[in-house]
Amino acid sequence: MSEPIKWVKKDPAKENVFWPTEEMKKQAWVADESIYAEAKADPVKFWAQHAEELHWFKRWDKDYEFAPLAYKWFIGGKINLSYNSLDRHIEVGNGDKVALIWEPEPTDEEPLKITYSQLHTLVSKFANVLKSLGVKKGDRVGIYLPMIPEAVVAMQACARIGAPHSVVFSAFSPDSLRDRLIDAGAKVLITADGYYRRGKQINLKKNADAGVEGTGVEKVVVVKRLDGSAPMTPGRDLWYHELMEGASEDCPAEELDAEDLSFLLYTSGTTGKPKGIMHTTGGYAVQSYLTAKWNFDLHEGDIFWCTADVGWITGHTYINYGPLMNGVTSVIFEGSPDFPDYGRFWSIIEKHKVTQLYTAPTAIRMFIKWGDEWPAKYDLSSLRLLGTVGEPINVDAWLWYFERIGGGRCPIIDTWWQTETGANMVNSLPGIGPFIPTVAGRPFPGVIADILDSGGTPVKPGDGGYITIFSPFPPALTRGIYGDMERFKNQYFSDYGPERYFTSDGARKDEMGNIRITGRVDDVMNVAGHRLATAEVESALAQNDKVSEVAVVSRPHELKGEVPVAFVLLKAGITPSEEIRKELMGTVTKVIGPTGRPDEIIFVEDVPKTRSGKIMRRVLKALVRNEPIGDITTLQNPDSVDHLKEVVGYKGE
Ligand code: WT7
Repeated sequence: MSEPIKWVKKDPAKENVFWPTEEMKKQAWVADESIYAEAKADPVKFWAQHAEELHWFKRWDKDYEFAPLAYKWFIGGKINLSYNSLDRHIEVGNGDKVALIWEPEPTDEEPLKITYSQLHTLVSKFANVLKSLGVKKGDRVGIYLPMIPEAVVAMQACARIGAPHSVVFSAFSPDSLRDRLIDAGAKVLITADGYYRRGKQINLKKNADAGVEGTGVEKVVVVKRLDGSAPMTPGRDLWYHELMEGASEDCPAEELDAEDLSFLLYTSGTTGKPKGIMHTTGGYAVQSYLTAKWNFDLHEGDIFWCTADVGWITGHTYINYGPLMNGVTSVIFEGSPDFPDYGRFWSIIEKHKVTQLYTAPTAIRMFIKWGDEWPAKYDLSSLRLLGTVGEPINVDAWLWYFERIGGGRCPIIDTWWQTETGANMVNSLPGIGPFIPTVAGRPFPGVIADILDSGGTPVKPGDGGYITIFSPFPPALTRGIYGDMERFKNQYFSDYGPERYFTSDGARKDEMGNIRITGRVDDVMNVAGHRLATAEVESALAQNDKVSEVAVVSRPHELKGEVPVAFVLLKAGITPSEEIRKELMGTVTKVIGPTGRPDEIIFVEDVPKTRSGKIMRRVLKALVRNEPIGDITTLQNPDSVDHLKEVVGYKGE
């Protein structure tokens, strides 16, 4: 056997700093440092140049236009995401290439391979189904689907006819689904009867039924994933396979305006109410396409696996649109990494010869816990590049991923971005590097970002500040919060004005401009890579009528990064018990879903409050983290802190 090519080399001068090798530089789309300076000198020109790589029905008249809260890209251009994902490849004779590999959870079920031509047919048919249900350009369509190919079919079909989709994560509760459907004003929902999770059948239809109640949804399309025995409401519910049978395969992609809404995706803000992040068509297409291509070094024949769920922005951009616009094969996995055993991920990589793996630090920490023997059993030599996303990665997890999974060959691309940014924003490029544990890298070419102090002045290398994005904004940046532009303005453009987008993330940079993200500076937690507001968990718990007051703070967690901890004051006369704890956990599951469940519920008799009656969450946070509590002289009830120290077993002083 020949020596494997070493793709990554260690910097002899510095520990844990890695650089691409000559081979990697040769094959990467960009390997010359000068790309950064060039793009920075004229970011608008940079994006416009790369926009030319996509298919436009009509070229745009103007590249970029800025007005407060109304910046625009590719003005006057006509484009379609689905056309760029499907038709473009078929036209050049690539219709027989595999677009999707679906790995079902049950190991006795065969994986499914869908070519670009087949996907094109499915998407066109389903687009016609949507039309027959009265869906028109601009109508929002709810999607509540598990990790099955129909999720991509549904999203692509919406994109094809210009009906913005609003995907809701399938593990979200009926209440969460309902709120999102109402806010988006959806009249059609696409769901499934269920799916497999750790060997069990999960009944999704039941949640969908509960979730559509009280909404404006008139038609529910149900994909049959299980045995099809789910009860159907006559006049409202329709089987996907029955509708598809009679549908025409002819559905030309709608010529959409570059600034037309392509989708809404709800994400947590600092309040209890999630916000519907709006994304465009043209700008989103260009940045999704280019970041997927350059960051993951996508080439013909690649088998790209992003392990996120389609319900998150990572799944939207790097399972669906990004890889498909690049004409590579995208893997969709229905199940969970520990079923039927801890080797599942590695068996999938071996079986399908995955070339790039894109996953989250939480998953990596779990793999480390499960033991090196699991990945060691499988042939992972097809891997050429690794990606990480969603939360800061720790040094140990980075090095383990690099050595045990990447065999020291594969660069790790640590991508920082947000639901709001639509696509990657900060990361090292595979052909340029450097690859440094815990450091994401430099802003992607054409992204103008810096670390500012609270007054808006860039900080010196090494100092902490807030990572901020400058106009000309990257083309995929959100254009607003659906139905709430006031909140949009307050959240992102009040700190530094309309030309600087406030990200809510803390960060620092080194002399070279490499950025380390230190985490959220607002009350948004990052739980196992999932975004969650403390206020959401609080308002969920407050719905239980035994609760008098509640405060939720985050606490670091070895595996999940962060977890919510809830302080609960019960109503007079109610004694804390294990039963009530369970009931409260149930309330959170019902309102948010399992992702919102607190790691711990602490029953207390009092919580620290300011003189004006506001709960001092800063104090609670210090208590659960064993950090210095700081000044509490302005509290209305300083005694409460002593009581709480006892309750939580505070070891901070
Ligand atoms: C928040 C956005 C972007 C897709 C997944 C999450 C954190 C994201 C990184 C990273 C450190 C990261 C930030 C950000 N985050 N990527 N590579 N290193 N932190 O999207 O749910 O909108 O969450 O995730 O705190 O603000 P999201």
